[in-house]
Amino acid sequence: MDNQIKISPSILSADFSCLGNEIEEIDNAGADYIHVDVMDGHYVPNITIGPEVIKDIRKCTNKVFDVHLMIEPVNPLLENFAKAGSDIITFHPEAEKNPKETLRIIKGLGCKTGISLNPATHLSVLNDLIEELDLILVMTVIPGFGGQSFMDDQLVKIESIRKMIDLTGKKIDLEVDGGINFETAPRAISAGADVLVAGTATFKGGKTKYKENIRKLRGS
Ligand code: DX5
Ligand code: ZN
Repeated sequence: MDNQIKISPSILSADFSCLGNEIEEIDNAGADYIHVDVMDGHYVPNITIGPEVIKDIRKCTNKVFDVHLMIEPVNPLLENFAKAGSDIITFHPEAEKNPKETLRIIKGLGCKTGISLNPATHLSVLNDLIEELDLILVMTVIPGFGGQSFMDDQLVKIESIRKMIDLTGKKIDLEVDGGINFETAPRAISAGADVLVAGTATFKGGKTKYKENIRKLRGS
């Protein structure tokens, strides 16, 4: 069971006019995590949601809230995101001067820690941080928008990070985010991913399709 691929639907592709209901639907359809994309219009050229919305949707599910912060700076808002009910907090190391300190703050708030690597970010950024991580997120699109195409050139990086994780002997999620669909999911899994974020591909076809979409993405 623990070796099963986890699916983390990105609610960015949900219908925001009935967000609570959408979250209940993906929970019932078998989502493992709920991926919450937080964008600030500064670190990325788009704005989404913040802690107030997270606090309210927290009432709709007990699933793990996998919160992906695309904001700069990160530290001043961490407490708000933790109190709102985040379980895993992932940030981009470029957005803070001392990422190790940011990881310490996240842990101190009782949350799991994640680092996200942009397509242009070299994996060496992990050397110093990997021992402190519960999750590594590899972006397979430029962050900012859903619905973009999967960047194949990131597969080699995913393979290398899988090896780095295995060498630590620790249980660290290797999550891939961006352009995941029925065709790209198996490629990410073969490269070593064990958590797949999927916005467009989960929500495609409306709620009667969510269960089938999630099952197909998982490959089971
Ligand atoms: C992009 C976000 C992703 C994205 C995924 O900045 O981090 O989570 O919304 O969307 P799809 O699955 O549509 O590529
Ligand atoms: Zn994301």
